Amino acid sequence: MVVAPTTRVVVVTGASSGIGLVTARELARRGDHVVLIGRDPNRLAWAAETVRDSGVVVRPPTVLRADFAVLDQVRAVAARLRSMYDRIDVLINNAGLLAPGNVTTVDGHELTMQVNYLAAFLLTHLLMERLPPGARVIMTTSALARLGRLDPVTLRDNRWHFSRWGAYCSSKQAVTLFTREAAARWREHGVVPTCLHPGAVRTGFARGSAFRLAMGLPGFVTPEEGADTLVWLATDDAGLATPGAYYVRRQQRIPPRRARDPQLAAQLWESSLTAVGLA
Ligand SMILES: NC(=O)c1ccc[n+]([C@@H]2O[C@H](COP(=O)([O-])OP(=O)(O)OC[C@H]3O[C@@H](n4cnc5c(N)ncnc54)[C@H](OP(=O)(O)O)[C@@H]3O)[C@@H](O)[C@H]2O)c1
Repeated sequence: MVVAPTTRVVVVTGASSGIGLVTARELARRGDHVVLIGRDPNRLAWAAETVRDSGVVVRPPTVLRADFAVLDQVRAVAARLRSMYDRIDVLINNAGLLAPGNVTTVDGHELTMQVNYLAAFLLTHLLMERLPPGARVIMTTSALARLGRLDPVTLRDNRWHFSRWGAYCSSKQAVTLFTREAAARWREHGVVPTCLHPGAVRTGFARGSAFRLAMGLPGFVTPEEGADTLVWLATDDAGLATPGAYYVRRQQRIPPRRARDPQLAAQLWESSLTAVGLA
């Protein structure tokens, strides 16, 4: 794919719905070439149409399908991206879900941990050669990372073994730890990882769980508001200022204690390399 050297290439995972879709739409409107990644062909086609129809979109989006519950599909989509683009200016690792408790993927990992964290870990590594110095890697995490008790060896939650929320909180703890560790390990390369909590947002998140009922409560914001910090990190110079930083409502925040533990981050990195077959 030939993209003018002045046009930014932005890859968004979890772009078929919610925060990811709004982010893709907004960045496309601002002139970026956006690649939408999602798992469901119908939702993806609808998302691409939404982006195209949303105003002055100069460059039509590219759509690529990958189910992150299968790491071979992450590998395949990374290979497609490498073959299509010489460089990727912004990689937004946003895909996430709250799976039913204790489901194991074909790759042998807890499903939520794989989709929310390991898939992003693998995708980012496989795209490193296409991320130029100054490229942004933005991770959607959650304030719920605070409640996680991540076991960096088993990649499961230590406290609530079979709970979907335990898995979710630990997966987001892993995402925040990864952001900080990647900033340290890739400093020389010049890639800038950051992460954000989007707030409590009314999206397609947690389909099929009782949590959906809470989305009607005051305090939940629109997907547009939820995407605000993400779009800001993808576009503003502030998004390049502090590699490894964690943001809420455009403000830099100190991550929860366990999500900033350097020893845990280092152990997690090593076991993640093994888990995705890169060690
Ligand atoms: N909503 C909130 O209150 C909230 C709060 C904190 C953090 N977050 C995080 O924000 C991110 C975006 O979520 P959202 O609120 O926008 O929810 P959403 O509307 O459900 O969007 C999630 C996106 O992730 C994709 N996804 C889910 N499972 C996948 C899989 N196996 N393979 C590939 N893609 C998959 C979904 O695809 P499908 O369309 O096929 O499902 C969808 O595009 C997530 O990481 C979530 O954890 C959300």
